[in-house]
Amino acid sequence: MALILGKPLAETTLIAIKERVVAFVARHKAPPTLALIRVGEDAASAVYLKNKVCCAEKVGIRTQLLSYPTTALPEEVARQIAVLNADSTVHGIIVQLPLPHHFAAEALIEQIAPEKDVDGLTTTTQGHLFRGAPCLAPCTAQGILQLLRTVHRDLTGMHAVVLGRSLIVGRPVGLMLLHAQCTVTLMHSRSRRVPDLCRQADIVISAVGQPHLVTKNFIKEGATVIDVGISRLPTPEGTMRLVGDVDFEEVAPIAGFITPVPGGVGPMTVCCLMKNTLDAAENQRKEHGI
Ligand SMILES: NC(=O)c1ccc[n+]([C@@H]2O[C@H](COP(=O)([O-])OP(=O)(O)OC[C@H]3O[C@@H](n4cnc5c(N)ncnc54)[C@H](OP(=O)(O)O)[C@@H]3O)[C@@H](O)[C@H]2O)c1
Repeated sequence: MALILGKPLAETTLIAIKERVVAFVARHKAPPTLALIRVGEDAASAVYLKNKVCCAEKVGIRTQLLSYPTTALPEEVARQIAVLNADSTVHGIIVQLPLPHHFAAEALIEQIAPEKDVDGLTTTTQGHLFRGAPCLAPCTAQGILQLLRTVHRDLTGMHAVVLGRSLIVGRPVGLMLLHAQCTVTLMHSRSRRVPDLCRQADIVISAVGQPHLVTKNFIKEGATVIDVGISRLPTPEGTMRLVGDVDFEEVAPIAGFITPVPGGVGPMTVCCLMKNTLDAAENQRKEHGI
């Protein structure tokens, strides 16, 4: 078994992104800019946002953090998105999920101009992804493909099973694997014979959010296992620890390659957000012929 580590790959990728940001600033006299919208007090969201802002600072991407209380009205946030859409100094916009219950998350995200949709969640972006056209694809899915390519240069003909069909991870990663010539099986909460089908896979990607879901019964000897899940479990010492969907102790001895949690997919997600923001900024400048 060999580990697939996200941190070193993210660090190398971020060095290249930083070089491109320096060139962008030299040419346009202003940095690529990412606006991050937060509504409410979700503790995990605060940590994710802090990571994104920190990473952006490291590579020279400017951030604008816009925080709203839980009681904010959806119309108020939609108006802010419209202002950011019209602002040519802002190149990327994300709305941190989850949103408070009185928000219709999909409808709000749909307000983001597709060229600034750096989380890859609008219908326009996902339509491009469906067709296999170039687009700002969802960050976690991009990160997973990059991690896989470190151990499988050519994915052609490999059977990949994806657990989870969310618009943010499961479905986009399924499509990207299909475009990479894999045979893809996409599974969900209503799927039958999940362990049996996983055992036939060369690659198992779990994006469910259920600790210890993937046990040794799911994995063929030598298969590659990508654990996207993030859950928080209490420790005997009264603290919390992060765990994935995969029972690492059981699965690691059987797997050919496996990502740990933390330190696997997570660092690549933030890294791909930086890449999408820079790509968006370059695309917008090109569109304006600058
Ligand atoms: N590392 C990272 O950077 C990163 C980024 C994003 C998300 N995550 C983590 O990844 C996990 C998934 O995120 P998400 O946003 O995609 O979650 P989500 O929207 O809750 O989707 C979970 C998916 O899992 C499916 N599912 C539930 N039980 C299942 C089972 N027993 N077998 C197979 N599929 C099952 C659900 O099926 P139905 O569609 O039928 O309900 C659903 O499609 C979470 O733990 C999240 O925190 C990590």
